[in-house]
Amino acid sequence: MSASYDLRDGVAVITLNNPPVNGLGYDTRRAVADGIDRAHADPAVRAIVITGAGRAFSGGADIREFGSPKAIAEPNLLSLIRMLDDATKPVVAAVHGTVMGGGLELSLGAHYRVAAPGTNVALPEVKIGLVPGAGGTQRLPRVLGVETALNMIVTGDPVKSELLAAIPGQTLFSKIIDGDLVAGAVAFALEMADARPLPRVRDLPLKHPNADAYFQFARNTVKAMAKNFPAPARCVDCVEQATRRKFDDGMVYEREAFLALMMTPECKALRHAFFAERAASKIPDVPEDTPVRPIARLAVIGAGTMGGGITMNFLNAGIPVTMLEMKQDALDRGIATIRKNYESQVKKGKLKQDKYEARMALLSTTLNYADLSDADMVIEAVFEEMGVKEKVFRALDDVMKPGAILASNTSTLDVDQIAAFTKRPQDVIGTHFFSPANVMKLLEVVRGKHTAKDVLATVMKLGKLIRKTAVVSGVCDGFIGNRMIEQYSRQAGFLLEEGCTPEQVDKAAEKFGFAMGPFRMGDLAGNDIGWAIRKRRYVEKPDLRYSKTADLLCELGRYGQKTGAGWYDYLPGQRAAIPSAVVVKMIEDHRAALGITPRRISDDEIVQRLVFSLVNEAARILEEGIASKASDIDMVYLTGYGFPLWRGGPMCYADTFGLFNVVQAMKRFAKNPLDDGEFWQPAPLLAKLAAEGKTFNPA
Ligand code: NAI
Repeated sequence: MSASYDLRDGVAVITLNNPPVNGLGYDTRRAVADGIDRAHADPAVRAIVITGAGRAFSGGADIREFGSPKAIAEPNLLSLIRMLDDATKPVVAAVHGTVMGGGLELSLGAHYRVAAPGTNVALPEVKIGLVPGAGGTQRLPRVLGVETALNMIVTGDPVKSELLAAIPGQTLFSKIIDGDLVAGAVAFALEMADARPLPRVRDLPLKHPNADAYFQFARNTVKAMAKNFPAPARCVDCVEQATRRKFDDGMVYEREAFLALMMTPECKALRHAFFAERAASKIPDVPEDTPVRPIARLAVIGAGTMGGGITMNFLNAGIPVTMLEMKQDALDRGIATIRKNYESQVKKGKLKQDKYEARMALLSTTLNYADLSDADMVIEAVFEEMGVKEKVFRALDDVMKPGAILASNTSTLDVDQIAAFTKRPQDVIGTHFFSPANVMKLLEVVRGKHTAKDVLATVMKLGKLIRKTAVVSGVCDGFIGNRMIEQYSRQAGFLLEEGCTPEQVDKAAEKFGFAMGPFRMGDLAGNDIGWAIRKRRYVEKPDLRYSKTADLLCELGRYGQKTGAGWYDYLPGQRAAIPSAVVVKMIEDHRAALGITPRRISDDEIVQRLVFSLVNEAARILEEGIASKASDIDMVYLTGYGFPLWRGGPMCYADTFGLFNVVQAMKRFAKNPLDDGEFWQPAPLLAKLAAEGKTFNPA
């Protein structure tokens, strides 16, 4: 059953029932249409109430049907709303919880709407690169006024029902109903049962007193704020047309805009990211109903950069944390940093004082492992040295209660080796947070050889609770994200050797849409970190070709922003990157020493070499099963590495570019004068998919 039908005091009550959020899938639409017909056919019915079972009126389209024929099968949403337009008995939509997208559009087809307080009202289509497609841009302005409606449509953000109901002159909600919503809606429907003519939103007049100036202003504003996304500007166009055209013509305009946007790469990328985010929590061999372990108390080892940020995530979620360090002053410093972070949020008005205090009250500290025995999970964030990790995990193995989860935040070390320091490798897992850990969305969850399925399921769920995008990675050097970035950095170094300046490379990458080019990123993260890793790695792999420019830079003490100089110069206390004559000279001398004649490299070549170096390594990661699907790799790059959202992640971008074309480009790069052909060997999976005309992500 996807919608039920009841009769109450002469009012037909149609209740959407399609958990979890009453998505308007085919069966639900069909059942609503049947209900409307039945109510009209029954002379005993004086009015109709449409409402939702469970926690929402309706979250809109049923995303499980996306892209399938069922999504548009009749009665589609437009047809359903047309039925309401043609209704001869009054229809009241009674909304609660969530009324979004198609759900809101359906309710706007009703003659009246009543709402429970606290209902989230939104047209979020813009977030997946679309305009609302079932009259939202034409009807919402008619009930809320142009400006409020347009704000909601271009942001896609929810607004509470009681705030909207308080807007003077609005006709979105006839009533806010405290208490029993359906009983209130039935009573209201009976009050209106004989009122004629029936008020239809489509018949309401719509004008803006300064339309030309207002829409020009609105268009400029959204274009500046969302320059790489076409949908927000199209939202403005649609609402403008609502003020200029007859209702039915406006509907045609909206439909055309919707269909045109649907075909854009930006919309495809946003839809991909939307589904990729949901897919990330699904692990092929870990069923969704896998029982999870309760996590009521947490321990964090190490109160440094990462330990402090990790701790904040859990305090924010209301989970008590005990932080352990070797010395009291390290604890004091850690707490001071956490306080400073919270206080800056309080100052900015983002956090209330009492909440800040409540969070700090959840934090305790210790120097003694025995104090961790009641924690359900511990996350280790000590120095990145196997010897130190070994000491910590052996100590944890002694004190942690049976069944506690033992996690490491290591960014490069072997989680299986760490697990082997304990007698309970099944309880050991990697939780790789990104810096700053209280801000960055990405959490790579590293599944060891022996990690138990319920441990994995628990940590994935915990990731959601602390509002991270958790992506599973297998064990390998660098996991998904850093293993790929290594190839990207190698390529960035070759570009310098062959003729680019750091500024040219960064500008090209940033024009493509990266939040930061590779060299500005190095200066922010600290060039010494990569230096230390290279010293270790390139000793193990002496034949691996890489550019020594980054080592030379570090030999000059230019570690980045923290030393006031890196690939760029920095003024004291400022973060603006100023091109450095010293660095340019250093690179030129290096080329001269190698006998290299620099050549001019186009921005296209720069971007393709950077992005395809990510893609090629990602193909290996997929093939080895380190990532279980291409969309997980996209999520890692979108949420942890500043990859442009409107391109959907490196795999989505490669698919859009065409894998055949990617391989062709790689063949061209392999013929560059300084290339030895090794770097651009296509990974077997990439070569195979390209040859078969396939894509990484399912089409
Ligand atoms: P950090 O140097 O800022 O903090 C490490 C803290 O651990 C220090 O406060 C130190 O006193 C404490 N510590 C060291 N040995 C200890 C022991 N035996 N018992 C208790 N406490 C001990 O280092 P950071 O940057 O926080 O890194 C921690 C871990 O997180 C490392 O494994 C690192 O690879 C990883 N990581 C770091 C990222 C970053 O951007 N900094 C990003 C992702 C992971």
